[in-house]
Amino acid sequence: MEEKVLTQHFEKKNFYKVDVYLKEGGYKAVEKALKEMKPEEILEEAKKANLRGRGGAGFPAGVKWGFVPQDVDKPKYLCVNADEGEPGTFKDRYIMSHNPHMLIEGIIITSFCVGIHTAFIYIRGEYEAVALRLEEAISEAYKKGFLGKDILNTGFDLDVYVHRGAGAYICGEETGLLESLEGKRGHPRLKPPFPASVGLFQCPTVINNVETIANVPQIILKGAEWFCQKGLPKDGGTRIFGVSGMVEKPGIYELPMGSNLKDIIFKQAGGMKKGKKLKAVIPGGLSAPVLKEDEIDIKMDFDSLVEANSMLGSAAIVVIDEDTSMLDVLKVVAKFYSHESCGQCTPCRIGTSWINKIVKRIDEGLGKKEDIDNIIRLASNIMGKTLCPLGDAAALPILSIAQKFRREIESHLAN
Ligand SMILES: Cc1cc2nc3c(=O)[nH]c(=O)nc-3n(C[C@H](O)[C@H](O)[C@H](O)COP(=O)(O)O)c2cc1C
Ligand code: SF4
Repeated sequence: MEEKVLTQHFEKKNFYKVDVYLKEGGYKAVEKALKEMKPEEILEEAKKANLRGRGGAGFPAGVKWGFVPQDVDKPKYLCVNADEGEPGTFKDRYIMSHNPHMLIEGIIITSFCVGIHTAFIYIRGEYEAVALRLEEAISEAYKKGFLGKDILNTGFDLDVYVHRGAGAYICGEETGLLESLEGKRGHPRLKPPFPASVGLFQCPTVINNVETIANVPQIILKGAEWFCQKGLPKDGGTRIFGVSGMVEKPGIYELPMGSNLKDIIFKQAGGMKKGKKLKAVIPGGLSAPVLKEDEIDIKMDFDSLVEANSMLGSAAIVVIDEDTSMLDVLKVVAKFYSHESCGQCTPCRIGTSWINKIVKRIDEGLGKKEDIDNIIRLASNIMGKTLCPLGDAAALPILSIAQKFRREIESHLAN
């Protein structure tokens, strides 16, 4: 049985309570980091661990923290991205509701490493129960002296706040998140400057995903080498794969980074529901280009999926069976992105809405023979021409479905 990192104690009763967490060795990493390590040593360990961001892009966390300037006369902030708006993705919800103190530990260590005294957890509005649980855990941590002033008598101060979003997918994009946190409309900012130097309230800011930060305590306790061994040398640790769709056992599975996609579906998630044939898989949340049945014998890590012209993204695996129409999948994708485009850039705003209209037209039996080419042309014209990555995130899955399942979609035109 694989040793788990983040989900190890999920089955334990009341593990989300601080006393139970402490009995299992909780907050030992904070003790070690704050009392025995210097911030530079923590940074070095995080870099060596090759902890790549779990929010989508896979940027190495230690490298990102290292970009934050230390010689500025301004506060620095940590924003934990708990927006989790990517369709198919539900791993962060499990971490926050089952293991909130591990996330808080990670927040304390990251903040200490970077010299941050205020941290925010930006959580999607729909996660009301999870937000309440987080607030309860934060208040427990204050009472035990892990948060607030002079943490564990080390002289380090840190305050943590939970901020609830209002249900816009674009507020998961890091600069949209910052705007929203500042009380404005979640319109992404032009980069550069990057948040590490000009972020929240124009101050240096680290933004990391929940799963990324929750991995930090174990790296501190067990070391970078151990972490790398749990995954791949250049892509350390485990990954929480959220499997949904037409499988027998949907759910979350924490496995080594680089686990085989076919095995995850057929060995972990119990195989196809009712023995149906697999048609396609979305391997990393809705933004990831779809893989066909003959493309799923593949390692689930950042680089392997890029090589396969897809992406690991949020590691949300959506399994599609033979009975599901790819036009219906395309309909969901097109509707979602046209609804969630923030409207700032023309290719994304107009492109996604045209694609949505064309797909609807095909679905209503009014499609024209040039429609698939039009969808491909429109999606290609969004690619690389927008202010934030939502444009590409919309175009990539649409292109992959239109190109790989062209014949199936064409059959709707014929009928
Ligand atoms: C449209 C859009 C939505 C995003 N939604 C999320 C999200 O819900 N959660 C998340 O962690 N990252 C999300 N991201 C990625 C963030 O912009 C950012 O890269 C990430 O939070 C950085 O954390 P990491 O380095 O730990 O992955 C989104 C990106 C885009 C373009
Ligand atoms: S790409 Fe789309 S979501 Fe991103 S800023 Fe432009 S219009 Fe808004």
